[in-house]
Amino acid sequence: MSPFSIFFYLIFYLITVCLGSGSGNQAIIEELFIQEEIFEIPESYIDSIYGELINSVETRQLKARKLKNGELLAPIPILKEKVSGKSFFNDYRGLNEYPAQFYELSSENLKLNKIQLPQDDDVSDINGNYPLFGGIVSFGHFPTMSCFDPKSLQNERIDIAIVGAPFDTGVSYRPGARFGPNGIRQGSMRLGVGLSPVRGKRGSKLSSVDPYNSGLQIVDCGDVPMTPFDNRFALNQLYRAQRIIHKHDSLNSTFYEKPRIITLGGDHTVTLMNLRSAYEAFSKKPISALHFDSHIDTWDPKILGGGISNYAGLNHGTFLHYAAEAGYINKDSSMHIGIRAPYIDPSDAQHDEDCGFRLITSTDIDEIGVGGISKKIMDLVGTENPVYISLDIDVLDPAYAPGTGTAEIGGFTTRELIGILNGLEGINLIGADVVEVSPPFDTNSGLTSLAAAGVIDSFLGLMVLKDKE
Ligand SMILES: *[C@@H]1O[C@H](CO)[C@@H](O)[C@H](O)[C@H]1NC(C)=O
Repeated sequence: MSPFSIFFYLIFYLITVCLGSGSGNQAIIEELFIQEEIFEIPESYIDSIYGELINSVETRQLKARKLKNGELLAPIPILKEKVSGKSFFNDYRGLNEYPAQFYELSSENLKLNKIQLPQDDDVSDINGNYPLFGGIVSFGHFPTMSCFDPKSLQNERIDIAIVGAPFDTGVSYRPGARFGPNGIRQGSMRLGVGLSPVRGKRGSKLSSVDPYNSGLQIVDCGDVPMTPFDNRFALNQLYRAQRIIHKHDSLNSTFYEKPRIITLGGDHTVTLMNLRSAYEAFSKKPISALHFDSHIDTWDPKILGGGISNYAGLNHGTFLHYAAEAGYINKDSSMHIGIRAPYIDPSDAQHDEDCGFRLITSTDIDEIGVGGISKKIMDLVGTENPVYISLDIDVLDPAYAPGTGTAEIGGFTTRELIGILNGLEGINLIGADVVEVSPPFDTNSGLTSLAAAGVIDSFLGLMVLKDKE
């Protein structure tokens, strides 16, 4: 009899005596017999780790009965030879190949009743192996690169570059997007394996794409230093940074000789510089702009900002006016998606058309659905035209993206947005950005940054797929 069962016996005995019950004796003795049986159950791996924490008297009884009835397998027998001089982690790595051995080794370790730690100089589990919530934060844990260093032009090649544009001195309402790039990086920490049951439609080519193990050189260039004191200088800094990234050669890309850049905003003014550099690097002819936003952003500077001074005329609501003026926008194949913010002036709709944009409003989704929106976009841009996607996170409903400069009710859900992007399989996406993420206005749980990171994950899928076609 083990000391444990003696203890139980004593307790039961005392209870019986105290209660002065004679007729209960038989039941107690029967109970003890069952318990006697229980204590002979060989210990399984999980039993020996968690012991009494998960094995109440009742569960032990249940296990004993199940073992007896053959409903439960007996645990793997303990290895007799002692295992020594090997790294626990080396054995652990072989888990998939030798599962039984792993459990045997573990049981042996546990029999010694202590955790077997690696040798003091063994760093095999520490070296280069970050937990998802650790490490120096880069987007999706991609490697970082000093992309603005002229020396890197000789030494480094890039297929897709991610770069932050921490700028928010072009906003009309809530500021804070200068903290957007690092917010989005924080929101991206669980990215890393791209295979997903919801990437692409069922059975699509997109559904087998894993951007994080694609064989393409995808890097995080960090943030462009942008002065908060003069927008003209700050935007020029961004332009020069985009330009030097675009001057790198690609590494493993099949179709693209230059890196494709995904920019983390920043208020929406930054898109003008992104478009300029992409235009110069890729096409030198107008680019199909897909502009996901609740606002048109083609406002005539005379109407938004420019009444005060010419300097004020370029801001996050007018940059598309200037992009159209500069010839970056392909007027035959550009479109706003998700528009719902009120116009400022009755002339806004006409001016928007003059800038070259078609319009899908947020409520159009109720008429034509997610697939209908994707189809309209695909019919417009096709698979050859160079496309730039600029996505203001306020295209989402404030329920999904409250941390933004100018929130508007009645937007898409994150699922609808991902669905629309999934439907763009095959577009020739040469550049993209996600802007207007303002972490100071976000929730504690970082909803907006999380949504932005998810959108960029979709961009990566589209970009990598195009390369593998
Ligand atoms: C690029 O391709 C080469 C050859 O296939 C491969 O060895 C290398 O790992 C690839 N680079 C990246 C970043 O995956």
